Amino acid sequence: MKKAIGASIFYARFALPFSRIGFRRRVGDAGLDADFTGQRWVVSGATGGIGRAIALGAAARGATVLALGRDARKLEALAQESTGTGRIQPTPVDLSLMRDVERVAGDIASGGPVDVLVHNVGVMCHAYRQTAEGLELGFATNLLGHWVLDQGLRRGGALTAGSAIISMSSGGMYGAALDLDALQAADAAHHDGFTAYAQHKRAQVALTHYWNSLGPGQPRAWVMHPGWVDTDGVRSALPGFRKLFRAVLRNADEGADTALWLAANRPDTGEGIWLDRHRDSEHAFGFTRKGAGAGALVARLQSSVAAGASGRGAAPGR
Ligand SMILES: NC(=O)c1ccc[n+]([C@@H]2O[C@H](COP(=O)([O-])OP(=O)(O)OC[C@H]3O[C@@H](n4cnc5c(N)ncnc54)[C@H](OP(=O)(O)O)[C@@H]3O)[C@@H](O)[C@H]2O)c1
Repeated sequence: MKKAIGASIFYARFALPFSRIGFRRRVGDAGLDADFTGQRWVVSGATGGIGRAIALGAAARGATVLALGRDARKLEALAQESTGTGRIQPTPVDLSLMRDVERVAGDIASGGPVDVLVHNVGVMCHAYRQTAEGLELGFATNLLGHWVLDQGLRRGGALTAGSAIISMSSGGMYGAALDLDALQAADAAHHDGFTAYAQHKRAQVALTHYWNSLGPGQPRAWVMHPGWVDTDGVRSALPGFRKLFRAVLRNADEGADTALWLAANRPDTGEGIWLDRHRDSEHAFGFTRKGAGAGALVARLQSSVAAGASGRGAAPGR
């Protein structure tokens, strides 16, 4: 009952702004006059959905885009599809495996600085699955991999004061106060895919604050929400939702728009989540302000990485 009331409040508040109508109202036909010539971008989860649209949009405006994905065939097809003055460089990696993410971060850093890093990859895992490294799959893909990629690029000197970091969160985070023990369940009995996904998306907001707290000389970070976009991810993870809202879902280019806009405009950082080129509040309900802080989150991520490196398996929650 409580869940049903919560869902009704959520949809009443957000269905319109997150829909295609919301995009039309705020962005409309504004277009994007941006030139990324000479820039080196990294986009995770670039073989499908919103990530693919970001990669193609950046390359069309002159960027060299390192497209991170696990499917070599899709990566090649993406590179072929690229138009404009930039290009797409297929960069194979399984973003749920921390050793592979560390490897690719080192490879990318050895090629020089990164102008724009888009942490786009994200999955909603209804079933509980562990990676070969003992991490819950969603936690590994949606959060810990972002952290490991970022750390690897910083260590390698690829992220500088001029770099922009853009994280793809979700409106799902509006219903979650950050609870570190809910980031990854220890077993299937304690796993709830919706709750875990909302936690990962809330954690991306906290991580953005952390990155921006590192001070001058460091890259700046923004967190955004793409609205509701008709992608393979939605088709497979949320078929009922898709059926209900299909007529008003955005296309991938509309979902990608704010990432490209942020990279081009780089507004002031600070509290807030970006949607349709506007900064919205990152809290819609008071209780979400009472969650764990960014420092505690980073400590948990560091301990998860350390546990994985020592072969003990990553520190799970409950
Ligand atoms: N769609 C929406 O309405 C919506 C709303 C709010 C937030 N978001 C967020 O937006 C982001 C993109 O969503 P989307 O709907 O575009 O997702 P999507 O259609 O599922 O696409 C995700 C992409 O990530 C790739 N990927 C998944 N796991 C990977 C792994 N372990 N290693 C490498 N690549 C991997 C997928 O590759 P494969 O083809 O190999 O699977 C695919 O290219 C996510 O962070 C999502 O949470 C989406």
